[in-house]
Amino acid sequence: MKVLGILGSPHKNGGTAQLLFSALRAAEKEGAETEWYSLYDGEIKPCIGCIQNEGPECRFPCIFEDYGKFLLQKIYEADGLIFATPIYWFAPSGVMKNLIDRMTCLENMVSFGEPSYLEGKVFGAIVVGADTGALMTGGYLIATLNSMGAIIPPWAIAYSYKSKASLWDDKDLMNAINVGLLVARTVALLKGKKVSLFYVDDKALLEEIRKEVLTELKLSEEPLRHVRKVGYLRY
Ligand SMILES: Cc1cc2nc3c(=O)[nH]c(=O)nc-3n(C[C@H](O)[C@H](O)[C@H](O)COP(=O)(O)O)c2cc1C
Repeated sequence: MKVLGILGSPHKNGGTAQLLFSALRAAEKEGAETEWYSLYDGEIKPCIGCIQNEGPECRFPCIFEDYGKFLLQKIYEADGLIFATPIYWFAPSGVMKNLIDRMTCLENMVSFGEPSYLEGKVFGAIVVGADTGALMTGGYLIATLNSMGAIIPPWAIAYSYKSKASLWDDKDLMNAINVGLLVARTVALLKGKKVSLFYVDDKALLEEIRKEVLTELKLSEEPLRHVRKVGYLRY
């Protein structure tokens, strides 16, 4: 069982990474093999809308030879997907939107007599901000991936407004852990295992994962809340 994490933040130890890594550690505890990639480690060219050309031309693999194509292949190979993004103006980061647009080539296989290549994959979302817009952002991700054919388990959106301090908020962290647990368990269920899909509230697991992520991200103490409130929505 492969669970792929996609980090849509430029910060490799920011709040988005903290909660993504927590979800991935949780998925591992359910027996998943995990991998993660940052969307900032290469170029993801914007979609050029081949789907609108005469005769459907948009199909997997995408025509661009870039980092985006590499990520699309990773998505194709995964059973479970966890996309984690900072909220950038009530929406996912621009690079994440670019990746999602490029995923059209996976979904558009329906135009070639095949199922969408996202069909049967299990999707969860993690969203981190400092002020507002989490449900617009998380809801957008969930609705879009579901429209592409992905399966959405219960408890599949976790969000935090604690920014760099997300890992230290027990509720937000437990929700992120549940994204990992429920994505992995839903994959297991689809593979015929007997598992239940309930929210897990487990303080010991939370502390264990927090410790692992603290070490992995080389974070030692809760950062001061860095949210600057000067007028409306200043970051
Ligand atoms: C361009 C930009 C737009 C932002 N817009 C929002 C927003 O609409 N809502 C919000 O809650 N936070 C917003 N933020 C704050 C970030 O989401 C917040 O700092 C978050 O912690 C970033 O995650 P990271 O530390 O993992 O990169 C914005 C930040 C930037 C740079």
